[in-house]
Amino acid sequence: MATKSVDPARSISGVIELPGDKSISHRYAILAALARGRSEISHYSAAADCQSTLDCLERLSVGVERTDRNGNAEVVITGAGVDGLRAARRSLDAGNSGTTMRLLTGVLAGQHFNSILTGDSSLRRRPMRRVIEPLERMGARIQARHANFAPLEIRGSALQPIQYTLQVPSAQVKSAVLLAGLFAEGETSVQEPVRTRDHTEVALREFGADVRRAGTIVSVSGRPRLEARQVRIPGDLSSAVFFLGAALILPGSSLLLHNVGLNPTRSAVLDVLSGWGAPVGIAALRGESGEMIGDVSIRHADLSGGALSGELIAQLIDELPMLAALGPYTAQGVEVRDSAELRVKESDRIAVLADNLRRMGAEVEERFDGLRIEGRARGRLQGAEIDPRGDHRMAMAFAIAALGAQGRSIIRDSDCVAISYPGFFEILEGTIVR
Ligand code: S3P
Repeated sequence: MATKSVDPARSISGVIELPGDKSISHRYAILAALARGRSEISHYSAAADCQSTLDCLERLSVGVERTDRNGNAEVVITGAGVDGLRAARRSLDAGNSGTTMRLLTGVLAGQHFNSILTGDSSLRRRPMRRVIEPLERMGARIQARHANFAPLEIRGSALQPIQYTLQVPSAQVKSAVLLAGLFAEGETSVQEPVRTRDHTEVALREFGADVRRAGTIVSVSGRPRLEARQVRIPGDLSSAVFFLGAALILPGSSLLLHNVGLNPTRSAVLDVLSGWGAPVGIAALRGESGEMIGDVSIRHADLSGGALSGELIAQLIDELPMLAALGPYTAQGVEVRDSAELRVKESDRIAVLADNLRRMGAEVEERFDGLRIEGRARGRLQGAEIDPRGDHRMAMAFAIAALGAQGRSIIRDSDCVAISYPGFFEILEGTIVR
């Protein structure tokens, strides 16, 4: 297992091109696979998770070509239409990727063949009942370990449309139901009491499906004819946040992040940071394939910190690790509430955050659905041995926190960053001023 040492830094500065957005990459790949013809997807994420989606699609007889043009990953997917998938000879491996597993469960439920979907030890511990339950209402037949965990044995079935209200604010569950709705005759609707990221709706529309939103309800018509497209994926804001965090921790820092995805259902983190006093700038804002994209600039500033709770949490869910790790560097500290979902991510993120923040000398109160991290610890945080428990976002959040601590930190199992951001440490190193 690789380890990485992180020494304190004076500041960071530079211009950064981010990897393609992970959430959008999964969706474009899946919809291109269900479209008729050759789709070209540029700036596809190099994240291991997004490669897992491509691997699964290949096993379902979809044509997948991966090329790298001057560092710009392009994926060409040749689909044969909504009825074009074929049974895989072996089980499908989603690796560490919850999005791959939950979205593909929706797609595979409505096929004429059976599939087995599995994943790594972390993914096999994550709850799948949340997708099985609505899909069973549509007529799906899915066997799971203890009715909740992968491996999932999915028996392809004829599906009926449903009107479903999300029980957990989860874009993955919403997407699984909408994707299954493509194989049902009629209109499938999902009501989301709390707004979650809408990349599936945007991508469905882009590939030619009939999608409508009325208030909190989103609907899709079944059996569409999806058309192959040329699309470009914006940079991943959830990855950008680690660099924003570094600039905010280290006085004198200044960064420009190019071509960042700024979909309003994803960009709440920028509002939170601005509200805490961060000088976040946005320029060159434009639309691309239905998604917002722009350049984000940041300079160092002292942060107030504050409380995060309620409906905001669903829109910040992947950024909470970085925001929590900024806690000791803020004036008032950071309090995270209503976030029990963090316990069923790639690791129990509440426990792992509390453990590693304490290793660095921060004062943390752990609660069932969140944590409170005391502020004003700048200068008192110590370098420490960090155990991210195989969770990419933990490894990156603590690598950043370590830049402002006293003494060297060691990040165990540092290779896990490749789940969402291969090359993270190299890019970070290139921006550091010591
Ligand atoms: C994702 C949705 C979120 C997020 C995950 C990616 C997506 O999960 O945490 O990293 O691409 O739909 P939930 O839908 O389970 O909240």
